[in-house]
Amino acid sequence: MTLQIEHPDSFLVSRRLALTKRPRRLRTTPALRAMVRETELSAHDFIYPLFVRHGHGRSEIRSMPGIHQLSVEEAVREAEIAVKSGVNAVILFGIPNRKDPVGLENFTENGIIQQAIRAIKKEIPELVVVTDVCLCEYTDHGHCGILNTGEHFQASLPEGYVLNDPTLDVLAKVAISHAECGADILAPSGMMDGMVGAIRGALDQTGYENLPILSYAVKYASSFYGPFREAAEGAPKFGDRKSHQMDPANVREALREAALDVEEGADMLMVKPALAYLDVIRVVKDAFPELPMAAYNVSGEYAMIKAAAANGWIDEKKATLETLTAIKRAGADLMITYHALEAAKWLK
Ligand code: PBG
Repeated sequence: MTLQIEHPDSFLVSRRLALTKRPRRLRTTPALRAMVRETELSAHDFIYPLFVRHGHGRSEIRSMPGIHQLSVEEAVREAEIAVKSGVNAVILFGIPNRKDPVGLENFTENGIIQQAIRAIKKEIPELVVVTDVCLCEYTDHGHCGILNTGEHFQASLPEGYVLNDPTLDVLAKVAISHAECGADILAPSGMMDGMVGAIRGALDQTGYENLPILSYAVKYASSFYGPFREAAEGAPKFGDRKSHQMDPANVREALREAALDVEEGADMLMVKPALAYLDVIRVVKDAFPELPMAAYNVSGEYAMIKAAAANGWIDEKKATLETLTAIKRAGADLMITYHALEAAKWLK
């Protein structure tokens, strides 16, 4: 067969095929493409994570270029930059001075997170301050709750298992403490059964019935949290989180987790991580279209783009915006992302 593409007869090919439907017509110019774009990113979609520690200054996290552990003053400065970039919300993670089996610093009057919430709300009252409600950064064993050992030991459960109900009591205390300091949204991330209900109940009893809960409803036991655990110094000292976080193989279970949290009073849902779970974001969004949905574009996802870009293997700006657009297209209304400041700048 010979192709005679220069010959005028070749135009007959299109007629023979009756090629009347041509998606390319709407891709001809930038203006046309903008008209038919289905997903538009905005700086308002982003929630920017801040890691706050005691002391002064800031120190860059090795595996997360551009992201720092911040003193309280530096956290306020970083939050001011976020607001100026058009980002409306931050999520705070605290790195305590001292760790213990219960995570006491997460609910003491002058804990690191309490100082950070108060300082940021004082300087920038309009900024939405979300706090992560979990124990893993605060416990000496690095687990998300009270362990099955010592005085709590239950012989029917493995030694070192994270006990559900005793952990709920601690999470309720943490939630009230964050609320008292002025947090705007509480985000429980420990994947304990009943955590949303326990926190909702505690808040309602203490006069915080208007404080919303953004539940990490569907959180997988993922390998993509590696850099975060360096940033927040919250890696488990032994074992893993598979007895509470979800198996990456499951999606029907995601619907069950989300349904329970909705029933318990969650105001917003989250799927985490984002990139390997775009199908899960879509399924949960379709099942609960009435609730705002967040997705956590986690530390490992950030690190992959940064590492490839540093090697000159991908275009950082394009890859980042493509990633965030995909997460939104999958159904997320909000994205927790370490790219927030850069992406906001690129969108301007
Ligand atoms: C738990 C928590 C984790 C992350 C957010 N909240 C760590 C974990 O579950 O082990 C990870 C976020 C990221 O990787 O960016 N407090």
